[in-house]
Amino acid sequence: MNKSAKKILAALLSTTMAFSLASCSGPGGSGKKTVGIAMPTKSLERWNRDGEYLKDLFEKAGYKVELKYSDNKTDQQNNDIQNMIADKVDLLLIAAVDGSTLTQTLDDAKKAKIPVVAYDRLIMNTDAVSYYVSFDNYTVGKLQGEFVRDKLELESAAGPFNIEFTAGDPADNNATYFFNGAYEALQSYIDAGKLVIKSGKKTFEQVATEKWKTETALANMQNTLASYYSDGTVLDVALCSNDSTALGVAQAIGSDYKGSNKPIVTGQDGDVANLRNIVDGVQTMTVYKNVRDQAGVTVEVSKAILDGKTPGSDLIGSLPAEAVYDTDSYNNGVKNVPSYLLVPYVITADNLQKLVDTTLYKWDDAHKYLESTAETT
Ligand code: BGC
Repeated sequence: MNKSAKKILAALLSTTMAFSLASCSGPGGSGKKTVGIAMPTKSLERWNRDGEYLKDLFEKAGYKVELKYSDNKTDQQNNDIQNMIADKVDLLLIAAVDGSTLTQTLDDAKKAKIPVVAYDRLIMNTDAVSYYVSFDNYTVGKLQGEFVRDKLELESAAGPFNIEFTAGDPADNNATYFFNGAYEALQSYIDAGKLVIKSGKKTFEQVATEKWKTETALANMQNTLASYYSDGTVLDVALCSNDSTALGVAQAIGSDYKGSNKPIVTGQDGDVANLRNIVDGVQTMTVYKNVRDQAGVTVEVSKAILDGKTPGSDLIGSLPAEAVYDTDSYNNGVKNVPSYLLVPYVITADNLQKLVDTTLYKWDDAHKYLESTAETT
């Protein structure tokens, strides 16, 4: 074979190879499988972290990633997911804006044989969701309630103490778990009159915060303070389900509160602004959920599914973080969704170093406040 014939043969071979790779799988013909990730919003710190960590870990594991944020809009999230189905992604990972609005879209995913994993928030009313990866949501609330119990020494103190609740988004299935966990940890003291809810707002519906918005939580707490605490009545506890709401509540307390004390303010997530408030004594605690671990567990569960396996408790030993496998607790209205639940823990001003030890935070130059080491937050 002369030189030019060899060249033609080489060119032909590489074209054939490129073709066969292209037909292998995944958009773009890279031969890699693609994971479609739908996140709710960029406006809250945690989802930026989740997106970044998930993308990073999936790519390191050899997958391609399509990552979409839906600006907290259900229509947009449905569209985003429809587009990913059209792109023939191999697996869908969804943190729902509204867990009950995806039924139709996920029927289409099922028809296209794309497995669906619910991320952090359960997706309701569909049999198309195969797995759920989250934290133990009830325990998040329970930790907040128990923190208040211990801080006020409710077992022995005479009281009464005044408490107000601020809960999350009614469209988020997690929100009732958080609220119930906290409320039930304190219920016996409320029933005994040791803890008093001056506003009378005792149910989740009465204290819910649409879209978990800081401004809404701020306005609601301003109303409560104006209506029930304007005469200097002491508020002892503002039990907030998460950090975005705690930010608004702490702001209302800072500007509109006439009492002489600093109320206990709870939170969840470890957002940098809230960790600042914790150092400044404006917020008292946050329940921390390591989302890099959550992303790591999710990648392992997804890998198993993409390898054609049916993961169960067998996966627990090989996960990168402590988690339990639970097939009973999360029913989405159609079925019990097998769940991998990670373990949350309490952070206060006294153990901030624990967050630095995760490597996801670092001290600022003055060694006073924490900063994020994530790129997008
Ligand atoms: C998450 C929380 C978060 C909240 C608001 C919940 O579903 O579990 O970590 O604070 O949504 O984004």
